[in-house]
Amino acid sequence: MTMPEFPADFPPGTGLVHLTETASTNDEARRLFALSADTAVWIMADRQTAGRGRMGRGWSSPEGNLMASLMCRPACGISLMGQLGFVAGLAVQSAIAEMSGLVAKLKWPNDVLIEGAKCAGILLETLSPAPGREAGLCIGIGVNLQYHPTDTPYPATSLKAAAGTAPSRRGLLAVLARNFETLRMIWQDQGFKPIRQMWLENAHGLGREITVALPQEKIAGKFRDIDEEGRLLLEKSDGKTRPVAAGDVFFGSTGDTGND
Ligand code: BTN
Repeated sequence: MTMPEFPADFPPGTGLVHLTETASTNDEARRLFALSADTAVWIMADRQTAGRGRMGRGWSSPEGNLMASLMCRPACGISLMGQLGFVAGLAVQSAIAEMSGLVAKLKWPNDVLIEGAKCAGILLETLSPAPGREAGLCIGIGVNLQYHPTDTPYPATSLKAAAGTAPSRRGLLAVLARNFETLRMIWQDQGFKPIRQMWLENAHGLGREITVALPQEKIAGKFRDIDEEGRLLLEKSDGKTRPVAAGDVFFGSTGDTGND
């Protein structure tokens, strides 16, 4: 395992490991956590040979896009770690705005959209501790800078496709790391409330009819809110609210891709 450097343009005390190629930066984060979890470390790879996405899907990881994972040990129990996915979504969104001027929106749980098309995804994985130690969290982030897949069940885009040009991976990662740390400190000091508020203000499709695809069923309703655990609150036609912990959201009661 390459030892982290501590770049001057990263938040103080936050490390960086830059790899040419790896299977998945989330796996590297897991390996690093087993060795030492004393400092937060970003692991970035130029290419991933087995990049993974949510719900067991793959993640297209060609050279030119940003693939990075943050290995950290949040000061909270495992049930609240999902809140950091919303912190990460906001950090990606603000880094994109800062570096490319594009207005991105957030799609539950952790996607980042430009004009309704996905340009970034986030995969959270908990890291098991050694006996007697606190659990860790890996926040894996993929941003389509130069390329985007064309065979996805949802529309996808890249910053290059949306703005004509894309920032450098390393430049975007430094801004992302700093924005994440600023938002993480708000979360640590003030709890989930301000993060939830900011996330909802930037959410795609709040108040609209959505369909959530779960492994065994599809449920339709209005996207009303997210709760403390980051679950989507769906108001069904009978007026009852159903919290959803994991699933894929499609816009409209028929489950279209809701490209707006
Ligand atoms: C998703 O939207 O499905 C989540 C995609 C997460 C992709 C990133 S790329 C860096 C990190 N390493 C992985 O294998 N996956 C995440």
